[in-house]
Amino acid sequence: MKIARKISRFAQGLAVVAVAQLGVAPLARAQDAALIQRGDYLAKAGDCVACHSAPHGKPFAGGLPMMTPMGAIYSTNITPDPDTGIGRYSEADFARALREGVAKDGHNLYPAMPYPSYAKVSDEDVHALYAYFMHGVAPIRQPDRESDIRWPLNMRWPLKFWNLIFLDKGSYRPKPQQDVAWNRGAYLIQGLGHCGSCHTPRGVAFQEKALDETGSAYLSGAAVDNWFASNLSGAHNAGLGRWSEADIAQFLKTGANQHASAFGSMTSVINHSMQWMSDADLAAIARYLKSLPAAGDPEPTAYAYDPKATKVSLLRPANDAGARTYATYCMHCHGADGRAFAPFLAPLAGNPNVLEKNPLSLIHVTLEGTEDIVIDGIPAPYPMPRYADVLDDQQIADVLTFIRAGWSNGAPAVSPKAVGDLRKLAAKAPPGE
Ligand code: HEC
Ligand code: HEC
Ligand code: HEC
Repeated sequence: MKIARKISRFAQGLAVVAVAQLGVAPLARAQDAALIQRGDYLAKAGDCVACHSAPHGKPFAGGLPMMTPMGAIYSTNITPDPDTGIGRYSEADFARALREGVAKDGHNLYPAMPYPSYAKVSDEDVHALYAYFMHGVAPIRQPDRESDIRWPLNMRWPLKFWNLIFLDKGSYRPKPQQDVAWNRGAYLIQGLGHCGSCHTPRGVAFQEKALDETGSAYLSGAAVDNWFASNLSGAHNAGLGRWSEADIAQFLKTGANQHASAFGSMTSVINHSMQWMSDADLAAIARYLKSLPAAGDPEPTAYAYDPKATKVSLLRPANDAGARTYATYCMHCHGADGRAFAPFLAPLAGNPNVLEKNPLSLIHVTLEGTEDIVIDGIPAPYPMPRYADVLDDQQIADVLTFIRAGWSNGAPAVSPKAVGDLRKLAAKAPPGE
């Protein structure tokens, strides 16, 4: 990792020297290079590439289908190509698209583009992002694709009213009673990080129920694209209550820690965005998350590890269908003690995703396995296998029910119907969702 960084620093150094050699206003050029580099970092913080690239497509050229309740819409080309991309956007046009959800020609963007979060981005950061998209990204000619939403639902003017009600205009205002790190963390999470677009439950109009910590639903966990984006509040069992700030930073930097590992739609967040954040920014993010009080479903009993709780059924798996499946298919990786080999193999004992009432992520990860986490170009050595073709609905329900009851996890049973429903949905979704 260090070597890769050194090489990229070296390359930047060369670029600056090369520019200096040209002899044209070297100081200004060096400043431009620094601005573009800052914009690149901010684009990673905002994970623009994740949505604005199709699978196997060119970066930022758009075309990724995104499901909305009304049909699929497609992300757009945000490379600086003047005809098919945003090459003709002025900085003011760019700022308006990013923070107010209005394209250059005046049409309203669907909030699948997370502008309600990006509204918080500062003028200074918009400036750096604009410099990056105009001068640091290669132009690609690729026309945008029309949405599949049919008339009359495809009319965009109602979005103006949606914005009037739900869009909080104005960039992030630091809270003077909090320290610099907390404010930096809040700025990144609420703004560019748009963590709430997955982790905060949505209301009837698709709006996030809260956009910052003043609302109790903020980051309390939500179902999105057939995954359950975990509760990130201070909840002891299903939230981050038992994680230290260092645990959170490690998870975001490497995709795993002693408690859990990243999978599903979080994989892309780690691969494209969070692993690239500086240690100081990750520490700030962790500080802010740890300040959130417990939210989400009430937790009458506080989880505590008990290795004995599962012993009997694992010794006599013939009596328990779930234990049988666990012993045959899962135990050699996840362990008889449920602790596996974290952070390389995720533990299931005490894992907040296992303790979460909503079993969506557990069913989905068992059906589909995990896509590779790639840290500094190196894929994770032990992905989780897929069991969709190996285990039937009843077996998956049984093994997850066993895991949720085991090691005193105390989470509710999983029904075969829930597995069957998700199996159908996951089969229809585009790969990786
Ligand atoms: C969660 C997915 C998502 C992320 C992340 C995202 N966008 Fe978008 N963006 C979209 C979608 C979808 C559209 C098109 C919406 C529509 O057509 O109504 C869009 C539209 C845009 C537009 C308008 C382009 C045009 O052709 O009119 C700009 C500019 C833009 N995004 C910039 C960005 C930048 C910069 C970032 C990162 C800071 C970013 N987006 C991150 C989904 C996303
Ligand atoms: C595209 C949707 C999406 C976005 C955006 C997203 N997450 Fe997640 N996140 C998930 C899902 C799904 C999970 C559950 C799977 C897992 O644990 O990796 C998750 C899990 C996590 C976990 C692990 C929690 C646990 O108990 O295991 C942390 C920490 C986390 N996300 C932090 C963040 C932060 C910080 C951001 C913003 C920078 C963010 N996420 C943005 C979807 C998302
Ligand atoms: C070959 C080793 C292996 C086997 C066998 C295996 N898993 Fe996993 N499992 C993993 C790894 C590795 C992860 C972490 C995923 C990642 O980050 O890519 C994981 C993650 C999980 C998770 C998500 C927990 C989290 O927070 O990451 C669940 C739930 C899970 N496995 C259940 C099962 C079940 C149920 C079985 C048996 C049917 C099983 N696993 C078999 C390796 C395995």
